[in-house]
Amino acid sequence: MAHDPLILVLDEGTTSTRAIVFAADGAVISAAQQDLTQYYPQPGWVEHDAAEIWDKTLACAREAVSAAGGADRVAAIGITNQRETIVAWDKTTGEPLHRALVWQDRRTADRCAALKARGLEEHVQSRTGLLLDPYFSATKAAWLVENVADVRQAAAAGTLAIGTVETWLAFKLTGGLHISDATNASRTALLPLDAPTWDAGLCDMFRVPIAALGEVTDCAGALGTALPEWIGRAIPLTGMVGDQQSATIGQGCLAPGQVKATYGTGAFVLANMGPRLPKSAHRLLGTVLVQQSGKRTYALEGSVFVAGSLIQWLRDGLGLIASSAETEALARSVEDSAGVVIVPALSGLGAPHWQPEARGVVTGLSFAAGKAHIARAALEAMAAQTQDLARAFAADGAAWRHLRIDGGMSANDWMSQDLADLLGLEVERPDMVETTALGAAMLAGVGAGLFATLGEAATAMRGTTQRFLPSMNEATRAARIKAWGKALLAV
Ligand code: G3P
Repeated sequence: MAHDPLILVLDEGTTSTRAIVFAADGAVISAAQQDLTQYYPQPGWVEHDAAEIWDKTLACAREAVSAAGGADRVAAIGITNQRETIVAWDKTTGEPLHRALVWQDRRTADRCAALKARGLEEHVQSRTGLLLDPYFSATKAAWLVENVADVRQAAAAGTLAIGTVETWLAFKLTGGLHISDATNASRTALLPLDAPTWDAGLCDMFRVPIAALGEVTDCAGALGTALPEWIGRAIPLTGMVGDQQSATIGQGCLAPGQVKATYGTGAFVLANMGPRLPKSAHRLLGTVLVQQSGKRTYALEGSVFVAGSLIQWLRDGLGLIASSAETEALARSVEDSAGVVIVPALSGLGAPHWQPEARGVVTGLSFAAGKAHIARAALEAMAAQTQDLARAFAADGAAWRHLRIDGGMSANDWMSQDLADLLGLEVERPDMVETTALGAAMLAGVGAGLFATLGEAATAMRGTTQRFLPSMNEATRAARIKAWGKALLAV
């Protein structure tokens, strides 16, 4: 039977797993979603159950494919995923050996500090584009090897597999392929930005057994084939990419200088830097944006750890709001935040500060402050954190000319306008908000030969956008930036 060129994307995020079926014109044909259990065994520790990640991914894939008319219509699969999160499993049993350590997990802060004290950060940065922070996978992988007896035993027996989430999903999906796409691999601190594969010296330094790592691959091409029993047919896996790189591609940032910001669990800004190796002197990250036919395009990245998760905390931790969407009406209901400033360092501060031990603060509380002011301050923190990044990018010679935004939080019109106002920049938001999944669909489409290039895929699949123009007066803007700077000193 001839297959319609539908593309199934498995979008495995931090808080939920989704499967989305796209048509070749970018239309979303069907989607399914399940929330993922978050485990917090100790303050600063965050874990996921890798078996649950796979089970829910498969369940969502089956539901979305069935709603789209069945596996015969699906030509290709793309995977995109939360990055840095590390899974250890046994290659022979296919079973996880411990819960996955999530990118937000800070348990290796001391180990990073010790490596820093040995003067190794510059070496890590110049080779990998990354810094010595527990965010990246290497120290997490080493923690698993050193602290989990089953992981150590598997390493000794030669059956240990360690990988990021796309590696885990590809292994399960294909029934045993051990591969890691270059964008995800570039988040481990074990892959030099300019080398095709893992670096033995870095693996030794971080104490990660190199034999447990998969083969580093392109992001598009004939990467593998899903076992027919999973989704009903042996569908080719033709795209794999980290979720923030995927959103950059889905936003059509295919030329050097184009920038996107995704407001999901965290907020991640990536600027396309073309084929030149990115170097930051202002605490930004250099990372692989995409690899095709062995050739890499790079990005400069600013990673902010808390964005949508702050709003979730207002809802679930404090019970201040019943739904995230309420924050928009609350923010609009007051003239300002009544002096309240929230620095959402609930899991430390990422770029450009990199303070893993920092914790969140609320400043400026007075009896004038009510629920609406707190909600407004929470939203204002998004623009403030983004503004810190804008400054660092400009200092690195990569000033933003305009910003494309996406992610769950970007549906908030008030926040989108506030971003334009505080940044003093035009902000553009696609009407189809599944930008992360769209990027993986574009890559899978190229990998399956449905499109010759990503540019062609973008022309075919990207939809219309909405623009937000800056309108804040300079005095208000300056006062906001000053108040944020003061609050930052309190973390
Ligand atoms: O680096 C972490 C990032 O990939 C997580 O993305 O969408 O789960 O916030 P998200």
